[in-house]
Amino acid sequence: GRCAVIIVAAGSGQRLGHGMPKARVPLGGATMLAHAVQGVVAAGVAAQICIAVPAGDDAMVELCHQVAARSGAGPEMRWSVVDGGADRAASVRAALELVDARVSTVLVHDAARPLTPTGVFDRVVAALRDGAKAVIPALAVADTIKTVVPAELPATGAGVERVSGTPVRNRLRAVQTPQGFDVDTLRRAHAHAQTLDADAAAQITDDAMLVEAIGEDVYVVQGSTHSLKITTPLDLLLAEAMLQGPLR
Ligand code: C5P
Repeated sequence: GRCAVIIVAAGSGQRLGHGMPKARVPLGGATMLAHAVQGVVAAGVAAQICIAVPAGDDAMVELCHQVAARSGAGPEMRWSVVDGGADRAASVRAALELVDARVSTVLVHDAARPLTPTGVFDRVVAALRDGAKAVIPALAVADTIKTVVPAELPATGAGVERVSGTPVRNRLRAVQTPQGFDVDTLRRAHAHAQTLDADAAAQITDDAMLVEAIGEDVYVVQGSTHSLKITTPLDLLLAEAMLQGPLR
C-alpha cells in the first residue's frame, strides 16, 4: 500500500535558542527541514509528504516549497503543508487530515531528527509490511534512568527532587522517529487523544503512547545514533560534526 510521511516541524525551537523555529535553523549549509525532507525522499518510501509548520508562519510555508522543489522527489510525489497545532499531537492530527485516501501506512517523523539514516526508515517500513500496526525505532540507554517526585531537604525544606524508582536499565529504550503506523490505527489513537483532559494531553510526547493507550501492540526496531533529536546547542554542534566527519 501507499505510505505517507508526516514531518512535524511546528515546534518553536526555544531550547535551541536560535530565536526561530527549529526547522529553519541552519545545518551544514542548508536548513534542518531540508535535511529532514531529503532524508525522507532518499529513503524512497513515501508517496506523500505532509509537513506541519507553525500556524500562520508564511516564511516556513515558503521554505517548505523551496525544500520540496530541491528534494530530488519526482513529480508523482504529493506534497502538503499544514498549520500545526498547540502541541505535537495536534500538529500530527492536522497533518493526518490531509493524508490521501489511498494511503495505508503513515510514518510520523520529527523535523528535529534531520540526519536519520535510510536504514531506519527501511526497518520501520519492513515491520509494517510484516504485519505490525505500530512500529518505533529505539536505542538502548547508556545512562541509568530514575523517576523522581518533588521533595524538600530534611533540614532546610529547600525544594529539590527525590528518587521514586529505578526501572531496570536493560528493559529501557530511548525512542526515536520515524514511528510507523497502519493509518486506521493512528487515526483511532488520535481520536482517543482528543478525549483526554488537559493534564493527560500535556504528557503526550509521541504517537506510539496513544496507540498503547488503545491497546494495540507497538513493535520496536533498531534506531540509530544518527537519528538524534536536535534540542540543545550541543546537539547542533554534534550534528554539524557528523555531516563533516568520518561518523557519516
Ligand atoms: O518539542 P519536541 O522536541 O518534543 O518536538 C518534537 C517535534 O515535534 C519537533 O520536530 C517539533 O517541531 C514538533 N512539534 C510540532 N508542533 C508542536 C510542537 C512540536 O510539530 N506544537
